[in-house]
Amino acid sequence: MPPVDLRSDTVTRPTPAMLAAMTTAPLGDDVFGDDPTVNALQDRIAAILGKEAALFVPSGTQGNLCALMSHCGRGDEYLVGQMAHTYRWEAGGGAVLGSIQPQPIAHAGDGTLPLEDIAAAIKPDDPHFARTRLLCLENTLGGRVMPPGYLRDATDLAHERGLGTHLDGARLFNAAVAAGGDPYAAAREIAAGFDTVSVCFSKGLGAPVGSALAGSEELIARAQRVRKMAGGGMRQAGILAAAALHALKHHVHRLADDHANARRLAAGLAGIPGVRVRPPETNMVFLDLDGERPGLVERLAADGVLCTGVYELRLVTHLDVAGTDVDRAVEALRRIL
Ligand SMILES: Cc1ncc(COP(=O)(O)O)c(C=O)c1O
Repeated sequence: MPPVDLRSDTVTRPTPAMLAAMTTAPLGDDVFGDDPTVNALQDRIAAILGKEAALFVPSGTQGNLCALMSHCGRGDEYLVGQMAHTYRWEAGGGAVLGSIQPQPIAHAGDGTLPLEDIAAAIKPDDPHFARTRLLCLENTLGGRVMPPGYLRDATDLAHERGLGTHLDGARLFNAAVAAGGDPYAAAREIAAGFDTVSVCFSKGLGAPVGSALAGSEELIARAQRVRKMAGGGMRQAGILAAAALHALKHHVHRLADDHANARRLAAGLAGIPGVRVRPPETNMVFLDLDGERPGLVERLAADGVLCTGVYELRLVTHLDVAGTDVDRAVEALRRIL
């Protein structure tokens, strides 16, 4: 039996229907702007998120980099969470390539950045300081959904103080589905306070490659130059955009199945001595372990469950994990933990 791969929602393979959409997509040269499938995807995601324009990029990392460098110039600063992907997991791209200084802010227990800490971190206009230009938030953050009222207050505060706003929405559709109701409308509502929003098609949505950055015509025109500089100008990219279009149409509502599987996993793992299960809000289950357990991930892998972590284990449900896989994983995890 193949292992149950819970390392990330990025490990999915394209479905036969997605592959069919890819192989029949009309193509052009996207650097010349004439790939009809890329253009259709950009129009579609911009419309869903309620923005003027969007840009197809190879990865979430590049989407975020394009956003940072479109909002900020050399010597500017952006406010960001200590645990945010743009700050911690993207090789410092904003600093390396954009000369943009990050100002990290500690998260509150629910993952938000307290409004008073955001306000206090905005530097006065003084030659001693970098110019604070941007607030960057993330939703979902480690599988947690940021409260809609908080997003509104934080983006209002940033705008009142003259800052731009960017949302790393790699898993925006997980947050939208968790909100209940029409997920496309929920996605638009989550995006509303942000000047730019990045979303990934290659995570819960199950496409093999690709992300998008959405925002105003002006910001997206700037982002297009950054994408080219970063080597993200792709040619017959419609073959990938077709997968993303298919995912947007067919794989959004089904994220609810991944969330249900995460709850099933969490319920199955409750009550193991020395293991605290954090109740999942979307598709990620975290297990806090009482102390380091060297070799645990390797032992689990040998028993057919792939996951990541040392002091905590991260288990992510996705398109290629069925309820029966969850039960197999629970059995192995209970035995080994
Ligand atoms: C929240 C978040 N943002 C951005 C990214 C970057 O996406 P990519 O791996 O496509 O560069 C990830 C990747 O896991 C992520 O989890």
